[in-house]
Amino acid sequence: MRVQLKGDAICTLFLAAALCAVLYSQLGHTSLRKEEAQNQKQPLTSKRFFHLQKQLQVQVTPAEPKIISAVEHVKVASQEDRATTPPPVTHPIFDFKHYLRNKDSRKFELLINQSKKCKRSPGGPFLLIVIKSLVEDFDRREIVRKTWGREGLINGVQVQRVFLLGVPKNKTTLPEWETLIHQESQMYRDILLWDFLDTFFNLTLKEIHFLSWADEFCSTAKFIFKGDADVFVNVENIVTFLEKHDPSEDLFVGDIIYNAQPIRARNSKYYIPETMYGLGIYPAYAGGGGFLLSSSTMKKLSQACKEVELFPIDDVFLGMCLQRINLKPISHEGFKTFGIMKPSAAPHLQTFDPCFYKDLMVVHSLKVAEIWLMWNLLHSPRLSCTQKKQVKKAFRWKTKVKGTTKAHAS
Ligand SMILES: *[C@@H]1O[C@H](CO)[C@@H](O)[C@H](O)[C@H]1NC(C)=O
Ligand SMILES: *[C@@H]1O[C@H](CO)[C@@H](O)[C@H](O)[C@H]1NC(C)=O
Ligand SMILES: *[C@@H]1O[C@H](CO)[C@@H](O)[C@H](O)[C@H]1NC(C)=O
Repeated sequence: MRVQLKGDAICTLFLAAALCAVLYSQLGHTSLRKEEAQNQKQPLTSKRFFHLQKQLQVQVTPAEPKIISAVEHVKVASQEDRATTPPPVTHPIFDFKHYLRNKDSRKFELLINQSKKCKRSPGGPFLLIVIKSLVEDFDRREIVRKTWGREGLINGVQVQRVFLLGVPKNKTTLPEWETLIHQESQMYRDILLWDFLDTFFNLTLKEIHFLSWADEFCSTAKFIFKGDADVFVNVENIVTFLEKHDPSEDLFVGDIIYNAQPIRARNSKYYIPETMYGLGIYPAYAGGGGFLLSSSTMKKLSQACKEVELFPIDDVFLGMCLQRINLKPISHEGFKTFGIMKPSAAPHLQTFDPCFYKDLMVVHSLKVAEIWLMWNLLHSPRLSCTQKKQVKKAFRWKTKVKGTTKAHAS
């Protein structure tokens, strides 16, 4: 009996996986890619908008519930990967022995610097936006520059931006990358490039190098937002939130994940053997997507991260640095690391409704076209949410997404 039940369960799982694979291949990215290229040039007409929205609705997957165990983290994270690159047929096996052997080489040269980044405005920028990127993602950087990553005055405060890059792993696909990235840097003055391979397991190096760069070249920035290039950030809300805080005090805010367990399944991308991390749970850490920190916390973290042993998962590593300085990260409702939940109270409400985004700070896993579209919708003078006055008010601390949607639905 038990054996049969187990067999049934496995069969169901298998079928579900197969269904997902079929659905995924159906969605494909080719059509959206073409669309993206066009979107950037064309003005947003309502006809095109509806066409786009129809497409995007298919692409915007209803988000998973808030993650507690790292097992689910894997599930969600691998979906994110699929959003940007086609899934590799096999996982490259992570060489732990090699990693442990080379753990002590953790200082790499800065190949492209922006030493004046934070000296342009008197007193330094209020907010420095920092985005992890890959050399080959030219289009993502471009869209971020044009949308939420804009430099200049936002709500009356100075905002600056940098992208963090390493050396691309596969140089054969991008033989001209050095020339291109130098040109891009000259044009926008927002590229930081270090001399380590830009791989998933080297993101920790990116973290450490960025923090020491910030400590050396941008200690005047009052606050820092650090995020991925595939997020949507409501910078106005972030600024409003930060204005109530003191940059000389500790602050670390994001979508905090508590009590995540290390993955011990060898075939997982996040597999961590016990020899590498013996404890049963990770310290609290901010889920990918983005987080905020104050100048004071940046300085402390920069020092602490130099002392913490390298760990291949960057957000967990940062959690370890936080633990070292004894700082409790703060969880905030406005950070939707794993996308927006479809509101159960108002299932007819579209998750792509810009009014939905008005109260949020960070939403993870958006495609280039979605970021562009959402930013334009949010900044359109024609945007009218049913309860405009309420929405116009500054970000509210404990707003539940459900509550908000109810308000809109009523
Ligand atoms: C950063 O740039 C400045 C001036 O452009 C240069 O003097 C300095 O050596 C650079 N710093 C690093 C760490 O490369
Ligand atoms: C780099 O990419 C090309 C084309 O996609 C591929 O043929 C080649 O095997 C890759 N090289 C490495 C080292 O991954
Ligand atoms: C990290 O970068 C270094 C320097 O480029 C490289 O030797 C190493 O293999 C990379 N590590 C991983 C895990 O990719």
